[in-house]
Amino acid sequence: MPTPNPEAMDFLLTRRSRPSKTLTAPVPDRATLETLLTAAARSPDHGKLEPWRFIVLSGDALHRMAGEVAATGARLGKDEPTIAKARAAFDDSPLCVAVIEVQKPSEKIPAIEQTYSAGAVCLALLNAALASGWGANWLSGWASHDADFRRDALGLAENETIAGFVHIGTETATPPDRPRPDLGAITTWVDA
Ligand SMILES: Cc1cc2nc3c(=O)[nH]c(=O)nc-3n(C[C@H](O)[C@H](O)[C@H](O)COP(=O)(O)O)c2cc1C
Repeated sequence: MPTPNPEAMDFLLTRRSRPSKTLTAPVPDRATLETLLTAAARSPDHGKLEPWRFIVLSGDALHRMAGEVAATGARLGKDEPTIAKARAAFDDSPLCVAVIEVQKPSEKIPAIEQTYSAGAVCLALLNAALASGWGANWLSGWASHDADFRRDALGLAENETIAGFVHIGTETATPPDRPRPDLGAITTWVDA
């Protein structure tokens, strides 16, 4: 018989993000964050390529990111409300971990599997933060998909992209749950 872990299952069946704009200080300290990052790095990774790394952004770095987002928005011709919303995600963030996908050359592991692994790391970090009682939210935003932004704001190399910005802090409001998928509509049972 399997050995159940009901607390873990209860967490997985009820977990939900906390909108980044509702997060505030205090934030996890460095040792606590290292535990969260350790849990995140314990993610499925075909071929043990470790196709990801972390950049922890706090303090002035967040305001610098906000400025880089605004500059990117101006260059891309985004309107003022769009830029203001995107820059607020960093200006108002108490702490943000950029999960960087690092594509590794491999004859065996397709690029998309490295992308999936980076996504898994984002979810694992989000869940580790939530399970530890922090509020957390996985965001991307249009700037993250811009190559110049990636290079100028975070110094990323050509083989690196942003899998996600995981904002972490203290929640000020627990949001109501959102509608969840209809399992019957997304599942096919095949037994013959
Ligand atoms: C790759 C990815 C990027 C996302 N980017 C954004 C974003 O830029 N802005 C936003 O409002 N939500 C974004 N979301 C959705 C939020 O993470 C949202 O909080 C999440 O879907 C809530 O799910 P949960 O309650 O099951 O944790 C993104 C989700 C994913 C998977």
